[in-house]
Amino acid sequence: MAKSVHAPAHLRLGVNIDHVATIRNARGGRHPDPVRAAKLAIEAGADGITAHLREDRRHIRDDDIARLKAEITKPLNFEMAATPEMVEIALKTKPHAACLVPEKRTERTTEGGLDVAGQHNMLAPVVAKLKDAGIRVSLFIAAEPGQIEMAVRIKAPVIEIHVGAWCDALSEGQAVQADAEWQRIRDGARMAKKLGLEVHAGHGLNYATAETIAALPEIVELNIGHYLIGEAIYDGLKQSVKLMRAAMDRGRKKS
Ligand code: PXP
Repeated sequence: MAKSVHAPAHLRLGVNIDHVATIRNARGGRHPDPVRAAKLAIEAGADGITAHLREDRRHIRDDDIARLKAEITKPLNFEMAATPEMVEIALKTKPHAACLVPEKRTERTTEGGLDVAGQHNMLAPVVAKLKDAGIRVSLFIAAEPGQIEMAVRIKAPVIEIHVGAWCDALSEGQAVQADAEWQRIRDGARMAKKLGLEVHAGHGLNYATAETIAALPEIVELNIGHYLIGEAIYDGLKQSVKLMRAAMDRGRKKS
């Protein structure tokens, strides 16, 4: 079958280590150390490390970001809200990449995508400032045409598609909704790639969903955290990263 998009054989895996810090913070102190976890994840095959410094510092703290930047040997993807405080930290840290995410104090995790269409006036200068500092900027958005078009208009080079609703629908056995979400992701990835954006995906992925989404040739990076850290309780972090890597490789071969 003819393929219109050539999928890079290697789909990048960004390992999000936020929840190592969640466990550490449950008791205070330094153990377990998210930087040690990041190094292990890299040894096991992660292509980069993702960490979200939230406004309330509920998991990752400022010194974790500084240590990750100083100590890891693969690219750091700094997840951040588009606030003056976080922009200042990003400009000081100069991570390889910054992923702009919406943030609400009351949410348990990043619940929805960024409203780029509604907030472009606020987001455009943030994107420009980070890009000027040599940081690769991505916008964490739902796979909606209006959001994708606006990401292009404000000159973001990368989007990360929020796949949480698809993962939730699958895990709750809502086949019709899961199907609708999947079509949205697939169409959104195609549209974004056609418009010249680099396309990533993340949120809520497990071995099975990562394998499925790896078959979309437009997607070049997955960012995965909670499930990997959860599986590490049973198997160890190196093994969970290796199993994820294998699932992604199997999926990519089907693209
Ligand atoms: N990508 C983004 C932009 C996120 O906000 C998150 C959650 O912090 C993830 C990926 C990882 O999601 P999960 O922890 O559910 O794998």
